[in-house]
Amino acid sequence: MTANTINIKSLAIIGTGVMGMGIAQIAAQAGIQVLLFDAKMGAAAQGRKSLQTMLEKLTAKGKFTDAQLQSALANLIVIDDIANISTVDVVVEAIVENLEIKQQLFKQLESIVPTKTILATNTSSLAVTAIAANCTHPERVAGFHFFNPVPLMKIVEVIPGLSTHPAIVETLTALATRMGHLGVVAKDTPGFIVNHGGRAYGTEALKILGEGVASFEDIDRILREGAGFRMGPFELLDLTGIDVSHPVMESIYTQFYHEDRYRPHPLTRQMLIGKKLGRKVGEGFYQYTENKKQDGQ
Ligand code: NAI
Repeated sequence: MTANTINIKSLAIIGTGVMGMGIAQIAAQAGIQVLLFDAKMGAAAQGRKSLQTMLEKLTAKGKFTDAQLQSALANLIVIDDIANISTVDVVVEAIVENLEIKQQLFKQLESIVPTKTILATNTSSLAVTAIAANCTHPERVAGFHFFNPVPLMKIVEVIPGLSTHPAIVETLTALATRMGHLGVVAKDTPGFIVNHGGRAYGTEALKILGEGVASFEDIDRILREGAGFRMGPFELLDLTGIDVSHPVMESIYTQFYHEDRYRPHPLTRQMLIGKKLGRKVGEGFYQYTENKKQDGQ
């Protein structure tokens, strides 16, 4: 910690889906008290229950001690009323990737927490400056963009908006280190680093598929085994969720004033409408049983 950083003792997660629970896990394991809130009734309790089951299995396999398990579980507290986050040091938002909804939430957060509380967003692509645009104190708002699955992907983008105070960036970077992650500072540009640089991995693969060059299974296979990527682009789309990926593609395309190379593909739009969202619903490009891919690859 430096003179500029704030000692973080408690954190609230708003949106306890895939990303929210991943961030909750690494924070709780780092000894930080985590309040879990989700707008959907019962979702936070369900998220905590699934995380508990997973941590218990890992403990049984010897990955954690019983004391570590109990300490992490004690740090995970479900709340039903968002007003209960009023005393936390940091709020991490991981709700739906929609600018208006995030803006509304940040305005609401400012009416609950004091000015010193850091407001962080896990947005994949939206401008941090825009999310903070309706805030009275945008200087305490920053991007804190983790990757899926959070406990395994030990890196996070820390993104200052135009008004963000440098101490907030320093504090979030130090918090990332405490949670076992490396904080990389990125400018507030569409998609930041990963979703800008890595965008073509999905959009070009969709183009190749659309042009009938190869099947999605073969495109995945060749990029994994021939080009050395850990996952093929369609496996990655299924893991991230089409409901997350397609809006991210649309948002980056719009923010770059419809630059052709970022153009999303109609196929993912159709899959979004048809609710073939990937692993989370058991079907996307691939079929899944209990979250395991069914094609033997
Ligand atoms: P998810 O769909 O798994 O979870 C979102 C949760 O937010 C749901 O439980 C939903 O009920 C809740 N929610 C929606 N609106 C809310 C509101 N107004 N107030 C409180 N809770 C609300 O989504 P996921 O995948 O966890 O993504 C969340 C955010 O993280 C998005 O901004 C996404 O772009 C970003 N992200 C996603 C990644 C991924 O691979 N899935 C990777 C990095 C960032």
